[in-house]
Amino acid sequence: EGTGNTGNPERLPLEFLFSPEFTRDPYAEYGRLREKGPVHPIDFPPGVSSFLVIDHEHGRAALSDPRLAKNLRNGPDLFRELAGGNPALAENLLSTDPPDHTRLRRLVSRAFTARRVESLRPRIQEITDRLIDTMAARGRADLLDDFAFPLPITVICELLGVPAGDRDDFRVWSATLVTPSLDEESVKRRDAVNTAIRAYFSGLIAERRAEPRDDMVSALVTASDEDELLSEPELIAMLTLLLIAGHETTVNLIGNGMLALLTHPGQLRLLQEEPELIPGAVEEFLRYDGPVERATLRFATEDLRIAGVRIPEGSMVQVSLGAAGRDPGAFDDPDALDVTRDGGHHLAFGHGVHFCLGAPLARLEARIAFGTLLRRLPDIALDCAPEQLEWRGSASIVRGLQALPVRF
Ligand code: HEM
Repeated sequence: EGTGNTGNPERLPLEFLFSPEFTRDPYAEYGRLREKGPVHPIDFPPGVSSFLVIDHEHGRAALSDPRLAKNLRNGPDLFRELAGGNPALAENLLSTDPPDHTRLRRLVSRAFTARRVESLRPRIQEITDRLIDTMAARGRADLLDDFAFPLPITVICELLGVPAGDRDDFRVWSATLVTPSLDEESVKRRDAVNTAIRAYFSGLIAERRAEPRDDMVSALVTASDEDELLSEPELIAMLTLLLIAGHETTVNLIGNGMLALLTHPGQLRLLQEEPELIPGAVEEFLRYDGPVERATLRFATEDLRIAGVRIPEGSMVQVSLGAAGRDPGAFDDPDALDVTRDGGHHLAFGHGVHFCLGAPLARLEARIAFGTLLRRLPDIALDCAPEQLEWRGSASIVRGLQALPVRF
């Protein structure tokens, strides 16, 4: 901070993040901006002081800076109002700061253990194989709908202990919650979804309290009842966050990563010949085109500077994890896909106290998914011209394709 080297910040209109060019290839847009400096003011939402950090060094520092709080109550009026009406939003891990965050995270970490994640391995392999069996007979597929979506959704629902029949609702709910539009219609729709989720989880919590099972809802209920560490709204907020995280992220790690391979056949062949490179390749997919384009909002609790740029108290700060992954200051030849690269210092899972809780699960799922896809579908190829692929709108902070047609 505070070096006085502000570069030449460019005031960005909100449309920067919504334009078709950005949606298709944010990295080209960031490349152009990078020439002008690491931090830029952005009109988002209109009238609110807001900044976008696009380099690795300052992005990493911002993610773990205690002066950049997550609690919406530190934000502009608009966000305080949002938080007031919506406990699921105001009391989840990503909207709290220490010490509340520390308490919540400790509790969920007890339920979300390495052992519990590792115990899922055979089941993840089984689900992966079953999905590929279904696709293989057809010779072509939408790799997103037929594979990348159902895999993590099935896993997160089994981990939490959500009955299979309720999963379709969950997909709709989670897609609604991650679209942060502020128009009246969207806000109404999100309120309705939040009410439905609250009712749903209250019911499930009551059932597991009466009759605990070997699942995470039971583990969280037991842990919170024993020590009275977690209120019911906090418990529901936690489950909602796990549900969303399980639906919107790993899906696109598989989708974006497979697209990267399909458009870089040399890298694809290398992985097929040397499958032991897959864990490193997964890290490279996270760096090269990770599922979380921008980290969640942070709010300045005091006046501060990032790379010399003045950030007034109450400003919003967003860190582009995608841009950080393409920063030539942090990675050699950053626009090249190289599955042998030593790129583990990417920020795709965040950094600091909010570092992704689900990273071990996401890594396990992705390693199994890529390993099995490449082994069982050795001829896999894109089934359309790359220019025909469409990305989901960047109204969401998640970056992912609408569909990924493949043949094999
Ligand atoms: C937090 C990325 C999968 C649960 C985060 C953050 C990022 C991230 C960047 C930090 C956001 C910020 O600081 O603003 C990813 C990616 C994933 C993934 C790229 C897949 C490839 C998952 C899964 C789960 C999960 C599968 C759970 C089942 C969480 C939770 C947090 C979090 C609970 C909040 C942690 C906290 O605030 O202490 N994730 N995530 N994530 N993630 Fe993930």
